[in-house]
Amino acid sequence: MNDKNKTKQQLITELEQLRREISDSKASEAEAMQAGEALKYSEETYRNLVDNSLVGINKVTLSGTFIYVNEAFVQMCEFNSAEDIMKLRVMDIFINPNGTKHFMDLLRNTGKISNYELKLVTKKGNTKSVLLNANLEGEIISGMVQDITERKQMEELLFNSKRHWENTFNTINDMITIHDSDFNIVLANRAAQTHLNLPPLGMSDEVKCYQYYHGSDCQMEGCPAHKCKSTGKHAAVNIVENHLDKSIEIRTIPRLDNNNNYAGVIHIARDITNIKKKEDTIERQLGRLNALRSIDRAIIGSLDMRITLDIFLTQVMAQLNIDAASVLLLNQKTHTLEYFISKGFRSSALKYTRLRLGEGNAGRAAVERRIVTIPNLDEHIDGFVVSDNFIEENFIAYFAVPLLAKGQVKGVLEVFHRSPLDGDPEWLEFLEAIADQGAIAIDNATMFDDIQRSNIELSLAYDTTIEGWSRAMDLRDRETEGHTQRVTEMTLRIAAVMGIKDEDIVHMRRGALLHDMGKMGIPDRILLKPGPLDPDEWKEMKRHPEYAYEMLHRIEYLRPAMDIPYCHHEKWDGTGYPRGLKGEDIPLTARIFAVVDVWDALSSDRPYRKAWPKQKVLEHIRSLSGTHFEPKVVDLFLEAIE
Ligand code: C2E
Ligand code: SIN
Ligand code: SIN
Ligand code: FE
Ligand code: FE
Repeated sequence: MNDKNKTKQQLITELEQLRREISDSKASEAEAMQAGEALKYSEETYRNLVDNSLVGINKVTLSGTFIYVNEAFVQMCEFNSAEDIMKLRVMDIFINPNGTKHFMDLLRNTGKISNYELKLVTKKGNTKSVLLNANLEGEIISGMVQDITERKQMEELLFNSKRHWENTFNTINDMITIHDSDFNIVLANRAAQTHLNLPPLGMSDEVKCYQYYHGSDCQMEGCPAHKCKSTGKHAAVNIVENHLDKSIEIRTIPRLDNNNNYAGVIHIARDITNIKKKEDTIERQLGRLNALRSIDRAIIGSLDMRITLDIFLTQVMAQLNIDAASVLLLNQKTHTLEYFISKGFRSSALKYTRLRLGEGNAGRAAVERRIVTIPNLDEHIDGFVVSDNFIEENFIAYFAVPLLAKGQVKGVLEVFHRSPLDGDPEWLEFLEAIADQGAIAIDNATMFDDIQRSNIELSLAYDTTIEGWSRAMDLRDRETEGHTQRVTEMTLRIAAVMGIKDEDIVHMRRGALLHDMGKMGIPDRILLKPGPLDPDEWKEMKRHPEYAYEMLHRIEYLRPAMDIPYCHHEKWDGTGYPRGLKGEDIPLTARIFAVVDVWDALSSDRPYRKAWPKQKVLEHIRSLSGTHFEPKVVDLFLEAIE
């Protein structure tokens, strides 16, 4: 079939196909045109991007020769231009701590390498940390280099500060726990983990702080954390809590979140058990020292053994924490221990105790000179006189401590307690120390009794001697014995009215008895002369007060009695003898005695004259008021005599 044979329809179909083909080819021509432009555009964009990227970009051959570097890389390396860098090789700039081979192996194996850390030395000699991402395409390595120096420095700072913080947190001796708002422990330092024996944190949300500081019976109201939560206040509270017999001092600091809302607390806790124990020990020892001191003071301050031992027992009970105590004294004559004083008893259970040495527990303590201990009286009651009273006391523990002073047993201290008592060494040591003090108290009091007794005996002996002397003197120049006694009594009567102190009276009495002791030195021919004395005789007679002084001042215990014998002839107006003293220069006792002496002399017969009548004597004495005698004394004397 030729063209003419072709149908019209066929021709149309072919024509249309042709048209389609032309149209298609035109279209693909346009597409091709477009694609070429796009590529060109994207290449430009890419180059622009690469050239101006802030990331350093380079292309390098496998042998390390730079083919391309962008501006950012030039700047990163602190070079002036790309050409300068391109003269160098990769190894001149990068330092790879792992070695180039490591890098190349990695790159060859996978065709690319990501986030590879390297160092880079710049032209100026600065070292920078960089991160490299690279692709291997054929023989070319394309690399992207990021300067991470600042980030690395930051990381290092952070790392160091974290390490510091952790070190501090964990090496600090205080227990530190950080809690959320439900009291759960979210972080605990090593001290807290160790001392509180915490389970691993984060495994359970039931690790509440109060379980560890208080035990399970925590009173939430009392918890500082609870308080912080409920009041929302920034309260730091110091408390001391007991947990498993430990004293723990806890500081609680509230934590606030970014919006200043309560976010839990930080507990800083310190185990002060040992400090508390030491404080308690010091306090106890101070108390005991003070107790010993107060017993000392009682010993010094009182001569009454009952008062001293009462204080002693009070201290024994307080410092040793016991319920009752008693002291038995050793009667040195009968060698028996006799009840003396007790404290803390409900009955008179032991009041009639009387034990022979060696008998009973106390007797055994005294003989063996050691503490006898009975921890449980229920099992071991045989050392006691068991009365119903004693059983009702319900004592359980008992100690008998010998009271030893200067190597001698003075008595026994008995200590009773109504519950078991485990006397630790410190307690026993103090028991012994305080017992020593008790023994000293007894020794001191009995010694004082002994001394006082011998003092009284001595004193009596002195006075008997003095009275004997004065009687002998009376016999020498007085017609009848007993005048001196009478003068003495009258003197003391007036002295009492004039308010002379008791301790001076004893000396005054002796002085009165011995007032004319000096006449022992006056010869009989003068003293017993029946008539008046001539001047020489007078001169001698007037020396009798000085003779008294000579004789008596050598005798220690009579020195305080000297005023009367030495000064009884002084006169108020200063005309007396031996020294012519005047007024109140004359000792008061002598001023009193002078009146009594003249009264007595005139009322008595003398070898040189007869006794005067009473009325005349009194008138005479009144007439000498203000000259011979002190007026006030005369008045009191006349009052006393009438
Ligand atoms: P005496 O006999 O114990 O007398 C004590 C004092 O009483 C006398 O101290 C005097 O102040 C007073 N007194 C005693 N008798 C008389 C008296 O007859 N008249 C008056 N006015 N006062 C009298 P006085 O005077 O310092 O004498 C000291 C002592 O000297 C007397 O102690 C006595 O032992 C002795 N004495 C005094 N006068 C005589 C005397 O005339 N003959 C003798 N033998 N002895 C005399
Ligand atoms: C708490 O109750 O939150 C802790 C225990 C305490 O610190 O007392
Ligand atoms: C004395 O000196 O001992 C007694 C006489 C006086 O008090 O002057
Ligand atoms: Fe005289
Ligand atoms: Fe006299």
